[in-house]
Amino acid sequence: MAALLGARPREVVFTASGSEANLLALRGAVPARGRTRTRVIAQATEHPAVLETARALRRLHGTRVTVLPVGGDGLLDPAALEAALGEDTALVSVMAAGNETGALQPVAELAAPARARGALFHCDAAQAAGKVPLDVRALGVDLLTVAGHKMYAPKGTASAVRARRRAAGTGRLRRRPGARTAGRHAERGAGRRSPRRRPRHGR
Ligand SMILES: Cc1ncc(COP(=O)(O)O)c(C=O)c1O
Repeated sequence: MAALLGARPREVVFTASGSEANLLALRGAVPARGRTRTRVIAQATEHPAVLETARALRRLHGTRVTVLPVGGDGLLDPAALEAALGEDTALVSVMAAGNETGALQPVAELAAPARARGALFHCDAAQAAGKVPLDVRALGVDLLTVAGHKMYAPKGTASAVRARRRAAGTGRLRRRPGARTAGRHAERGAGRRSPRRRPRHGR
């Protein structure tokens, strides 16, 4: 999966469906952006797993949701996205290939201004992975969804990719302040079992 998407194996998280991967991307990333970045921007033809999750974020966390229209060709105009982006944008979600129209969005062109304004970019590539070349770093996306059953894998297989950014000009992965310790801790802790409780007898 990592090789298919230009990602590192540790950046791939397996999920049980594309919907779960979309949900994980949005619900994992948006509340973590803090109090100043509270807006999600999506386009109107996103899969319900994106649009309904954005609405759930509005209900649960007060996230503001902007849904941009697409043109007659099914595409989101990069200029329309640029105009909608603001300092409050937490995340932009645009699918790679439309599940109804097959329209291929200009993902790299959309991701660049979003990231330049400090927003995360999520791409639902459920209908594109395995059919058109996808490279998370060349596209400049932070989060990407793949659904196994759309590419002849068994049902119940999917993944969410979290592509870590490189620091400009260094080729090294950029860490957020404080992330080093947290990341190491998480890696060390990953897979560890919680201490087992002794069964209580005689109760
Ligand atoms: C673009 C897109 N995203 C997400 C999904 C959801 O994937 P799943 O059926 O694995 O939940 C689909 C499924 O049709 C899809 O077409």
